Amino acid sequence: MEHEGRSAAWPGVIEAYRRYLPVDASTPVVTMNEGRTPLIAAPRLAEVVFGEGRVPRLYLKFEGLNPTGSFKDRGMTMAVSKAVEAGAKGVVCASTGNTSASAAAYAARAGLACLVIIPKGAVASGKLAQALIYGARVLAVEGNFDVALDLVRGLVARHPEITLVNSINPYRLEGQKTAAFEVCDQLGRAPDYLAIPVGNAGNISAYWQGFKEYAAAGQGGAKRPAAGAWPLMLGFQAEGAAPFIAGSFVDKPKTLATAIRIGHPASWDRARRAVNESGGRFTAITDDEIVIAYRLLARLEGVFVEPASAAPVAGLAKLTRDGYFAERGVGPETAVVCVLTGNGLKDPNRARRVSVAPEVVPADLDLVEDRAFGREAGS
Ligand code: F0G
Repeated sequence: MEHEGRSAAWPGVIEAYRRYLPVDASTPVVTMNEGRTPLIAAPRLAEVVFGEGRVPRLYLKFEGLNPTGSFKDRGMTMAVSKAVEAGAKGVVCASTGNTSASAAAYAARAGLACLVIIPKGAVASGKLAQALIYGARVLAVEGNFDVALDLVRGLVARHPEITLVNSINPYRLEGQKTAAFEVCDQLGRAPDYLAIPVGNAGNISAYWQGFKEYAAAGQGGAKRPAAGAWPLMLGFQAEGAAPFIAGSFVDKPKTLATAIRIGHPASWDRARRAVNESGGRFTAITDDEIVIAYRLLARLEGVFVEPASAAPVAGLAKLTRDGYFAERGVGPETAVVCVLTGNGLKDPNRARRVSVAPEVVPADLDLVEDRAFGREAGS
């Protein structure tokens, strides 16, 4: 889809990719002009992540720049539009935070009630603030995300007038697949590798669906001789919440990346199929590795994400150390796209906790100069 500077304003993902989506003229489109997030070249980060030698081109698909600060908006525009079309009275979701922020915002815009069930004490402050200010009813339960999702399934079974907008709602993935279309449009072809964090496993499934549909439509592969029209899918999980690496569900998931603290992924089969069919893999990284990547993204590229979104960057570094890319002969002609799912401002407390606190200095030029440039100055 071509959108040059002088063309009409970006209409949001439903209008931009209407012919690939299950909507028709009677669907009331609830949009905040989500999508069209930048694909940012990251050469400084690439040097550090891939090391010396044959460094591939690294691009960051910064989904944190969507209207509510995460990729969820792509799916929520579809899910809420279809809920309105079906005459729903409200929407409900379980969430580690971003889904609830997005659901609450789109519901507000549609004039629908929104109910959110979150794991108590395990949602980053910015996300909770969003759900509240958008007017959702928020219930915090004693239990993790998986418990919350079970409760929500139970609620909609009893209240069919309320639409569930977690990613088990098929319209969510339909909307989210548009990110794969955009990556192909922005790059002029499908990337060679797609690195993405995995929690409930909807997004990796949606990207895979998107790459395959775009290729089938003759898009995204034309400029890529001698290769398939889709990337290898590299899914990353935090070590303490890594059911795909363990090969079975995890009952007590643990990681500081609260967005992906999930032990029973709902899209289990689809995500495994995405990785297997594409020839990719799932990889676990530690929380320490996630924090290193989180700081590197900010310091080397000026891109501030939430911790879960740093997982794929940490994972690419780990795969490099393990010799994965060297074995596969990557080089400057290889395009690696890393999906940065959420904005760093969602979780400001984490950023402060991993950084040096500001020093308090008297308002005196000599003292300020001393601190800033003198021997005591930090690095
Ligand atoms: N990154 C962020 C920032 C997320 O919020 C999520 C999921 C993921 C990655 C993983 O995506 O679940 O499709 O595999 N957040 C959900 C939520 C669970 O409730 O906001 P996934």
